[in-house]
Amino acid sequence: MIAKGPTIRRPKVVASSERLGLDGRGVRRMQALAQKYDRGPLMLRTPGRPMAMILHPDDVHEVLEGSPEPFATAETLKVHALKHFQPKGALISHGAERSPRRRLNEQALELGAPVHHLGARFTQVVEEETEALLAEVRGRGGVLAYEAFLDAWFRVVRRVVLGDSARDDTALTELTQKLRGDGNWAFLKPVDKGGRAELLDQMQAALDRAEPGSLAAVMSQLAPAPDSEPAQQIPQWLFAFDPAGMAAFRGLALLTTHPEHLDTTELRTPDDQQDPAPTRPRLRAAVLESLRLWPTTPMILRETTTDVAFDRGVMPAGTSVLIFAPFFHRDDRHLDFAHRFAPELWDRPRTRADWPLVPFSAGPGLCPGRDLVLMLTSSFLAAILRRATLSLDSHRLDPASLPSLLNHFGLRFRLG
Ligand code: HEM
Repeated sequence: MIAKGPTIRRPKVVASSERLGLDGRGVRRMQALAQKYDRGPLMLRTPGRPMAMILHPDDVHEVLEGSPEPFATAETLKVHALKHFQPKGALISHGAERSPRRRLNEQALELGAPVHHLGARFTQVVEEETEALLAEVRGRGGVLAYEAFLDAWFRVVRRVVLGDSARDDTALTELTQKLRGDGNWAFLKPVDKGGRAELLDQMQAALDRAEPGSLAAVMSQLAPAPDSEPAQQIPQWLFAFDPAGMAAFRGLALLTTHPEHLDTTELRTPDDQQDPAPTRPRLRAAVLESLRLWPTTPMILRETTTDVAFDRGVMPAGTSVLIFAPFFHRDDRHLDFAHRFAPELWDRPRTRADWPLVPFSAGPGLCPGRDLVLMLTSSFLAAILRRATLSLDSHRLDPASLPSLLNHFGLRFRLG
């Protein structure tokens, strides 16, 4: 997992993991540990600092609901990874500093609203960029590969987050990718302070420009509380839209190989639906399934701020707590849907009483971008599938037993 790149994926390692089935082996190893150690949590003797692995579904809920006290989101390894591009981001802030930063993210991204108030504008951006993407792909032989898809997706992201003037600012995306690459090395690589300052200056400039129809404009109008550090929250948005692209592209693979799950009424243009920003629940469920089957945040980390009592003993303060999401999403000892596409799982909100499926985390640390991500990715899928019939050329997916990893870099679709 770590070799694949926690903050930005390394294509060669992802390809080898897919070939060798390493993700499936990881889940089987976790099953063996749960067999041996029962409920856990399992304390590991890791060099430097204690670490615990969560083995029981109830403890997943316990830890996530208990954030940020006593289970802080600002876990030490994560702090070292994210400090390369946003040392004051909500996720790695704690105590009095965390609350205003978290609140600012929730407000600007509109967590809890299925459609952001700028939804109509964002849908229009998606439609324009999809039109351009498919024209380009058709002009080049009709094969859609990840590179072209991601370029178009990042054009959408830059327009949505920073404004139309950033549409072609690929240098900014390269800078974020460079700093995320440094983040993969956490404390093993010194922070590129010049690069980081340049990134944060550009974020501040976007807030100052406040282009109408952008998230930067929404954020700049929120009258942020002292200490909320608006410019330091935006790098995570740019960074986290990258996994959203992965999830959408894999979602396309799921839908092309499970056409019976495609509800064509969700593909109608926003005008046809007489709704400028439709919700598209089936397409959202496809993205959620893509994230359940192949989580883009496979390791959710917390750190205990005090000693915490579990049934089987006390977990000391300062322990890094690991929730390995693929284990809970693909545990075929308990889940009959473990390895198949099961969009019905998302027909209703999942609660603490349910088995933990946590692609966006849960509890007070739930991803504040969740609703926006689902809105944008489902719009993007609708815009593509309305304009083209796709067939998956690169992979043969067995619906009864989907692979433990789907290398998004290697996916190729032929446009009909
Ligand atoms: C497929 C796309 C995404 C997935 C699967 C995802 C998942 C997650 C997860 C699992 C966490 C918790 C991480 C942890 O506790 O260590 C998280 C946190 C966060 N995400 Fe997302 N995310 C996605 C996209 C986005 C986007 C596009 C944004 C912003 C526009 C965003 C903003 C955030 C923020 C600000 C946090 C920190 C929350 C906090 O500190 O409480 N995410 N996300």
